[in-house]
Amino acid sequence: MKNILTYGTYDLFHIGHVKLFKRLKAMGDNLIVGVSTDHFNKLKDKHSIFSYEERAGIVKACRYVDLVIPENNWEQKKNDIEKYNITTFAMGDDWQGRFDHLKAQCEVIYLPRTENISSTDVKQNILSISQLELDSLKIKIDESIRIIESLQDSLK
Ligand code: CTP
Repeated sequence: MKNILTYGTYDLFHIGHVKLFKRLKAMGDNLIVGVSTDHFNKLKDKHSIFSYEERAGIVKACRYVDLVIPENNWEQKKNDIEKYNITTFAMGDDWQGRFDHLKAQCEVIYLPRTENISSTDVKQNILSISQLELDSLKIKIDESIRIIESLQDSLK
């Protein structure tokens, strides 16, 4: 039985997360995903839009994921590898080399990230759209003010 383990925040679940899970599930029998708790995110200086319960629920609903566990701290990986009889520990290659010390316990691999997508990008895109909508609303308000002023002038 090949058990795969990975960790992450998985906020605003996107196609990069799905592709990572699909590739990991294809490598073994069970995919176990550690989802960072809100408290751990604070320690990492990361602020997610969705709460731990929401992010864990979304990850669990992904067909490639067999089990979701909370990621509470940096140190738990060693215990989790033992507890879940892990054969492969995997992360995206933005973490290249960072977990090589776990090679004494199991295989450690880093997979290439899906290009041009991240939770941060999604947040930025939403902000840009909101800004565009705000700009067009301002133009409409200015136009309305001009019409009202010219009407007032004509009534003088
Ligand atoms: N990941 C990936 N491809 C992406 C984005 C993320 O393979 N385009 C992987 C990461 O390498 C990591 C896991 O998904 O192993 C969880 O990453 P996470 O930090 O939750 O996602 P990001 O989109 O990178 O979030 P952020 O922008 O907040 O860093």
